[in-house]
Amino acid sequence: MAYFSQRTAFLAVLLMPLASALGSTSYNGLAKTPQTGWDKWNAYGCEIDAETLLDTAQKMVDLGFRDLGYKYVILDDCWSNPERSHNGSLVANSTKFPEGIKAVADKIHDLGLLFGMYSSAGLYTCAQYPASLGHERQDAQTFADWGVDYLKYDNCYNQGQEGTSQLTFNRYDTMSKALNETGRPIWYSMCNWGRDYPWNWAQTMANSWRISGDVYDSFDRPDARCPCTTYDCPLPGFHCSVMNIIGKAAPIVDKGQPGGWNDLDALEVGNGGMSDDEYKVHFSMWAMIKSPLIMGTNIPKITASTYSILANPAVIAISQDSAGTPAYRVWNREADIDQYDQGSQSLWVMSLSGGDFAIALLNAGNTSMELNATLEEIFIDKATTAGGRTKGPLPSSSGWDVYDLWANRMSDVMANSIIQGNATVNGTITDTSNSATLYNATEMSYADGIKSNHTALLGAKISSVPPMGTISAVVPRHGIAVFRLRKQDSGSLKKRSEL
Ligand code: GAL
Repeated sequence: MAYFSQRTAFLAVLLMPLASALGSTSYNGLAKTPQTGWDKWNAYGCEIDAETLLDTAQKMVDLGFRDLGYKYVILDDCWSNPERSHNGSLVANSTKFPEGIKAVADKIHDLGLLFGMYSSAGLYTCAQYPASLGHERQDAQTFADWGVDYLKYDNCYNQGQEGTSQLTFNRYDTMSKALNETGRPIWYSMCNWGRDYPWNWAQTMANSWRISGDVYDSFDRPDARCPCTTYDCPLPGFHCSVMNIIGKAAPIVDKGQPGGWNDLDALEVGNGGMSDDEYKVHFSMWAMIKSPLIMGTNIPKITASTYSILANPAVIAISQDSAGTPAYRVWNREADIDQYDQGSQSLWVMSLSGGDFAIALLNAGNTSMELNATLEEIFIDKATTAGGRTKGPLPSSSGWDVYDLWANRMSDVMANSIIQGNATVNGTITDTSNSATLYNATEMSYADGIKSNHTALLGAKISSVPPMGTISAVVPRHGIAVFRLRKQDSGSLKKRSEL
């Protein structure tokens, strides 16, 4: 009987993504846009303590990351004692967290940031600390009492309770309900590495779900530890390159929507394994696909080039756009050059609020090349499917202004003066010599910034494309061009010969 009712509930929730796609936001009111913040795992692994966490949070304020909209400071694995307390509660390791976790959460809140915790839907965390399977209500209440705003919930030591969507759903739903019962809004970040296809059913009980095994600080290196290249392969593995994860995300991008997002894992930007162009691809594509933007580098030791990628407001604005629509891949072409690592070239298109679009031309190949996207390709769904069509002229028959979202990237000189503390007062950037790249989302939301045409969010206008025209860009090896397209006023349309 219990099985029957659980099964009925599961089937009912399978139908609910449709309902939520039709207009409501989320099961717990959170996640209108993908989460932003920092997680210590990629930079520190198991090494963490209160001091490192609080130094990082303070630096996020000082360097202006908080005001760019980065919100959550997430603790991840290895924070607890090896045993629960006599009454069964999780206990923080007192060497790493001498004042306990609540004190850390309070300090992070005082800085205007939110605090994320970690556990696993198993007997142990991946690093073999006690985890929450069978203790969901008690642990959720502990987290709520500590002032936790976010739970990353892993999949290790799950006692074999996976292999069907229903088994995984039930295990993760137990914690979802427990978190809700606390009455505290807690972002629920499922981390089961895409097992049992959570993008098909997790919208009703989680705010994000990992779609693959762990990201690795490599652009495209094949790795036997990450054996799958498509999402429908059941071995999540780890050491998955950026291009591997993008390839897995491509067929399921539309499963991310306000309330619940595909999580491509935390960012590796700044960790040293990729070139500057490769990190630009990584950051841009995570924003385009609407993955969480969770920084994963050592913030107190950040370099100028890492800073100017992670602090590019024009790219953050497309991630946080209020339309909440992930980009999709229009085409993906293997290069017709015969050499190792030939990679592929792809065009990605995203609808933005207010009628704008973003496009990305991604060159994963080994040589720089010109990539072209015609307006007909960019708006192909609007032209070919009745559903996408609106009455009136097709978008491809309008002229569009093209804004380069990387053209205003902050100079190293300015980034260094911010990093060294010479260009900020209490986290507010005072050096405005590069003002086209500065944005304070605490003062003005991204939605309002876009409505008021804030330069830092629009990027630099580089051209206009005529009706039925083509957008071209020379894209470096392992590089990307990202453009915002804004329809020209029909009154200001020019003849082709005038452009
Ligand atoms: C993995 C997870 C990583 C990290 C790690 C901690 O399963 O995917 O993101 O949290 O566990 O042990």
